[in-house]
Amino acid sequence: MKFYISTKGIKRVTISNAAAAAAAGKGSNKTTAAGRRISSRTLLPVLLLLAIVLPFLFLRFAILVLESASACSSIDCIGWRFLSGGDASPKLRDELIRALIEAKDGNNVNEEGAESFNQLVNEVTSKGQDLKAFAFKTKAMLSQMERKVESARHQESVYWHLASHGVPKTLHCLSLKLAEEYAVNAMARARLPPPEHVSRLADPAFRHLVLLTDNIIAASVVVSSAVENAANPEKLVFHIVTDKKTYTPMHAWFATNSIKSAVVEVKGLHQYDWSEEVNAGVKEMLQINQLIWKHYHKKFKEEKLEYVGEQDRYLGALRPGSLSLLNHLRIYIPELFPDLNKIVFLDDDVVVQHDISSLWELDLNGKVSGSVFKSWCGDTCCPDSKYKNYLNFSHPFISSHFNGDQCAWLYGMNIFDLEAWRRTNITHSYRQWLKLNLKSGLALWNPGVLPPALIAFDGHVHPIDSKWLVTDLGYRYQSQEISFERLQEVAVIHFNGPAKPWLEIGVPQFRSLWNRYVNFSDKFIRRCRITW
Ligand SMILES: *[C@@H]1O[C@H](CO)[C@@H](O)[C@H](O)[C@H]1NC(C)=O
Ligand SMILES: *[C@@H]1O[C@H](CO)[C@@H](O)[C@H](O)[C@H]1NC(C)=O
Ligand SMILES: *[C@@H]1O[C@H](CO)[C@@H](O)[C@H](O)[C@H]1NC(C)=O
Repeated sequence: MKFYISTKGIKRVTISNAAAAAAAGKGSNKTTAAGRRISSRTLLPVLLLLAIVLPFLFLRFAILVLESASACSSIDCIGWRFLSGGDASPKLRDELIRALIEAKDGNNVNEEGAESFNQLVNEVTSKGQDLKAFAFKTKAMLSQMERKVESARHQESVYWHLASHGVPKTLHCLSLKLAEEYAVNAMARARLPPPEHVSRLADPAFRHLVLLTDNIIAASVVVSSAVENAANPEKLVFHIVTDKKTYTPMHAWFATNSIKSAVVEVKGLHQYDWSEEVNAGVKEMLQINQLIWKHYHKKFKEEKLEYVGEQDRYLGALRPGSLSLLNHLRIYIPELFPDLNKIVFLDDDVVVQHDISSLWELDLNGKVSGSVFKSWCGDTCCPDSKYKNYLNFSHPFISSHFNGDQCAWLYGMNIFDLEAWRRTNITHSYRQWLKLNLKSGLALWNPGVLPPALIAFDGHVHPIDSKWLVTDLGYRYQSQEISFERLQEVAVIHFNGPAKPWLEIGVPQFRSLWNRYVNFSDKFIRRCRITW
């Protein structure tokens, strides 16, 4: 091995070719062996780290070896000097720093990065390049790796979101088996609720809960959990609205799984006879949501999204729920239930953990809705959950009407005074804003059902205690922040986010809170091998 270094105007580090080739050969063997052990997921960050650290160690070591050659005769001595930082060559260091800064500021678009550290060493040593070239090469290599890591994160995020789209085979099976049961078993077609309980459906003395869903097992968990934890389950009346295709299996499930003394009504959208006006409104809302979906789908395919947060926003807009009529129909609840005056609206991805009957007795102070605000750090403290987190305050339409620092309320569990709602223009205003947003090129708010609802219900919401609801159990990165005690104490937990507990990607530590309400001894659940 032969080193050459000039100390005045230091520009060149040369190592003889044979030695470098041997080192490279050895190195690449090692990388392949290591590659087999390290999963592809961890490989990129590790490579990146190595790429950052190793060149410096290598250089520093090389310099020290050279400097120490005369004074040190053993590795121990070199090691000691290396660690103690005793450096007799500030010039070389300054030179290197200058080269790195130059590389950082310089524009080296033509520079090709090395594929690996070995290649980098190989190129720098074999061509006898100077420090500047080395710095540029290293920069190109790091940028290349950064891009790879970014692209891998991008991919991973897309796959994760895609996983939230498919209906699991087992749930599909449940739907089919129950539809079959509806066809062959008169019990499964029995009137729901039985004739003696029909009068309860519009009786204000009972506590009415509304659920809009096409997911049978989710509905069953909401109903079972609410009934099991209710002090007076016989007071509860569930109104489940579903679509035409889910109507028969949903009916069959609740007709054959008698829910203690509570009353369950299952209605299909096809059974509604709406006025022309409501029909037109619903149709328009659906069309707008399809346009929104197409818009984000197109943008997602065409645009190179800069960072994962932006991409998540797009993927969020493309979630199955964004096209589901049932998801958007919540703004038509007064029309869906013309005979009811006060209801509690539950999303299908919640679990009721305590008695919630006092919700119906809450005084809403004349407001239309009682909702929980995401203010876990105090009444007026709601970081990341203000109007400005949902609406675009750079837009004059938004900034002239609303206050960005106002806290946003949450969906999941809401009380609605339908009588008060009918006296307002909320539904009308929601439609108008939806149209305005479309006209403004979808620039007014982030995709989702909440932002336009924040606008339409502005000034109509009475805050209720945050001990009623914990949300975000369907987001990956939220999972560490919620303490288990708080989860146990809270009345309702909400699995909003892509990681639904019935999906493969559900967050394991939260799933048990949900699946303890699944009746795994039920014959359909067993036949479809539903297990979590
Ligand atoms: C609803 O809107 C109409 C027309 O825009 C208006 O005349 C009426 O006062 C509004 N009603 C309420 C309660 O705001
Ligand atoms: C917010 O509104 C501004 C002003 O109209 C617009 O330029 C911008 O693109 C909007 N932002 C988003 C994310 O739509
Ligand atoms: C669970 O299903 C079994 C079998 O259908 C039934 O006997 C039992 O009552 C159900 N349990 C609950 C809590 O609904």
